[in-house]
Amino acid sequence: MLPLLNTDRHWERFAQADPYWAVLTNERFRSENLDRQEFFETGERHIDYVFNLVRQHLDPDFAPRSALDFGCGVGRLLLPLARRVPVVTGVDVSETMLREARCRLDEASLQHIDLVVGDDELSEVQGTYDLIHSVMVFQHVPVRRGEVIVRRLLSRMNDGAVGALQFVYSRQWRPGLHGRWQRLRERLYHLRVALLGQPQMQMNEYSLGRLVAILQQAGARRLHVELNNHGGILGAMLVFQLRASDQYVI
Ligand SMILES: C[S@@+](CC[C@H](N)C(=O)[O-])C[C@H]1O[C@@H](n2cnc3c(N)ncnc32)[C@H](O)[C@@H]1O
Repeated sequence: MLPLLNTDRHWERFAQADPYWAVLTNERFRSENLDRQEFFETGERHIDYVFNLVRQHLDPDFAPRSALDFGCGVGRLLLPLARRVPVVTGVDVSETMLREARCRLDEASLQHIDLVVGDDELSEVQGTYDLIHSVMVFQHVPVRRGEVIVRRLLSRMNDGAVGALQFVYSRQWRPGLHGRWQRLRERLYHLRVALLGQPQMQMNEYSLGRLVAILQQAGARRLHVELNNHGGILGAMLVFQLRASDQYVI
């Protein structure tokens, strides 16, 4: 793989340099400023939000027995998942991220969580799940590769399982010259980072149409979409259920 496209290597470097900042790129979470409690509270809120969405739109009795968080980083979402779900697996390409997650889980006496190094085949992931979740990960993975991983994740879902997967699908640039300057600055930034051999945080845009087709091919008939806008980066959380009895044949 071209070094520029090997985002896995970049993530290991981010993790070694400043793992919490790499997860939530806000100065508040740089190692010198870090308040871990504040950081992990953001994860609690996110998992509450996801469970509420699922109960409101797909399944009022949603109580998964097993969950997988793809691209789990330092475990921001594994801790709140582990408090709600008996079997939890975290997957990440970065071993340093996984080591940090293990420390945080041990500290919280949540030793029953499986942490596995991710590859595109998910070859280390055992079994199937009632909940598959991922947020702020696919945008950093080149699109065609990400779509392959999505298909593999879908194949690991039980009948009736729920998926909550987030993607960036577009960018909102400022109008006119400002917007053109914004785009140019971003391209120059990526060029500079590549030339200096520094790690890159890619921002890949996925086609919602292609993703919905992938979900449908895997058997999804019910889908709820929550749109978000993070400083002009337009994202969509796709929350869906795979249930064989929902299949509708004309
Ligand atoms: C921005 S962080 C988000 C972490 C976590 N989802 C959260 O919200 O707290 C992105 C994470 O995805 C991981 N990652 C990037 N590419 C990946 C891949 N191809 N497979 C698995 N994990 C990946 C990175 O190592 C990093 O931990």
